[in-house]
Amino acid sequence: MDAEQRFIEGLLELQYGLDAVDDLKKIAPQVSWASDWPEDKRSFWNAEAFLWSRKIPKEKREMITKELSFLSHGKNLDLGSGAYSYIPSTCFDISPKMLQFNDNCKEKITGDLEKGLPFSNASFDSVTAVFVINYVQNYSSLCREIRRVLKKEGTFVMILSANPVNDWQRQKEVVSLPFLKWVKLLEETGFKVDHYLKEELHFFKCRIS
Ligand SMILES: C[S@@+](CC[C@H](N)C(=O)[O-])C[C@H]1O[C@@H](n2cnc3c(N)ncnc32)[C@H](O)[C@@H]1O
Repeated sequence: MDAEQRFIEGLLELQYGLDAVDDLKKIAPQVSWASDWPEDKRSFWNAEAFLWSRKIPKEKREMITKELSFLSHGKNLDLGSGAYSYIPSTCFDISPKMLQFNDNCKEKITGDLEKGLPFSNASFDSVTAVFVINYVQNYSSLCREIRRVLKKEGTFVMILSANPVNDWQRQKEVVSLPFLKWVKLLEETGFKVDHYLKEELHFFKCRIS
């Protein structure tokens, strides 16, 4: 069995709660897309791409898809799209592996949300960020970037879990704010925010104010 296969098998063991981290760390340098796993964020999320689809229940995916369906006729940018975009989108993610598995992308762009977005002003009807912004240190700048790439009548929808993220993912989490602080930040960025809680998810539907 080659290193890549052994690495993927180890990831599955990890998912089933087996103590596979030390073995995986030894194999990772031999796998091009996981070389600095788990410290390096690109390697970390590349590995998660093999597991992520099973981490969110189908019913929750369906509920989110329904909530976002009002955006499906415009040009949507899905930030941190991962391996699953809820509506057809321009998909943007740090992980090429995640993007590889995502079959709802009109185009796929690899990049880092900590930096400026590589898109022109006012180029999208909507932007979505589902289970993502808690992994971004420069979240205030990102919100400003989102506003910049949105058209004047555009909508930004951000979704976050109301419950803490699981222990494994938490090693990459860099911000955890009470929802009212997110609302305040979004308002300060120039959005009018409609916040609601549904099935333990926070929805922030934002329009340019
Ligand atoms: C928890 S997953 C959510 C994926 C998808 N939105 C979903 O709902 O299934 C977080 C995603 O954000 C991406 N991500 C994390 N940090 C990032 C960064 N700095 N730049 C771009 N993408 C990032 C990860 O690669 C991963 O695909």
